[in-house]
Amino acid sequence: MSTTPERPQYDAEVPYRGEQPYGMLEDLVIPQALDLDCDERLWVPQAPDVTFRPLLLSVSQGYFVNILRVRKTGILSRHRHAGPVHATTLKGRWHYLEHDWWAEEGSYAFEPPGDIHTLHVPDGVEEMVTLFHVTGAYIYVDPDGNPVGVEDVFTKLEAARKHYAAVGLGADYVDQFIR
Ligand SMILES: [Fe+2]
Repeated sequence: MSTTPERPQYDAEVPYRGEQPYGMLEDLVIPQALDLDCDERLWVPQAPDVTFRPLLLSVSQGYFVNILRVRKTGILSRHRHAGPVHATTLKGRWHYLEHDWWAEEGSYAFEPPGDIHTLHVPDGVEEMVTLFHVTGAYIYVDPDGNPVGVEDVFTKLEAARKHYAAVGLGADYVDQFIR
């Protein structure tokens, strides 16, 4: 005979009954987020043969989650990271000239804040697609580390707004990705 007092069933299939905390943001769900054959209008031009698809533009925390699609080879950019980056490669392969590791299809990589590196897509890769979670900013630099440009959640947001307006989805189409 058990003497254990009766406890609530934490594993019962009963939803939480209370209210959510005041001030919390709405959750965000994107069906088919990894469908690379999605509506072409979702891909925002970033440079010739380079587009991105925003998933989350966090203006409240200063980061963004996006899928980068590159259809050219060679040097993509040289940059310094102001914050951490998480990179999950979905297609193709790429590397940084400064490191000996490769981002291969299905791989995950952490890029530490402060790292300065030059993204290169090798010959033979028709398409490189990588899901990047980027906190802070890309600071684009010349080979000596001098800043030549910057990109953050706000430049991504502005590019997406303009693109979605131009392709007929409407500038406010991007609002669904903002938190
Ligand atoms: Fe990087």
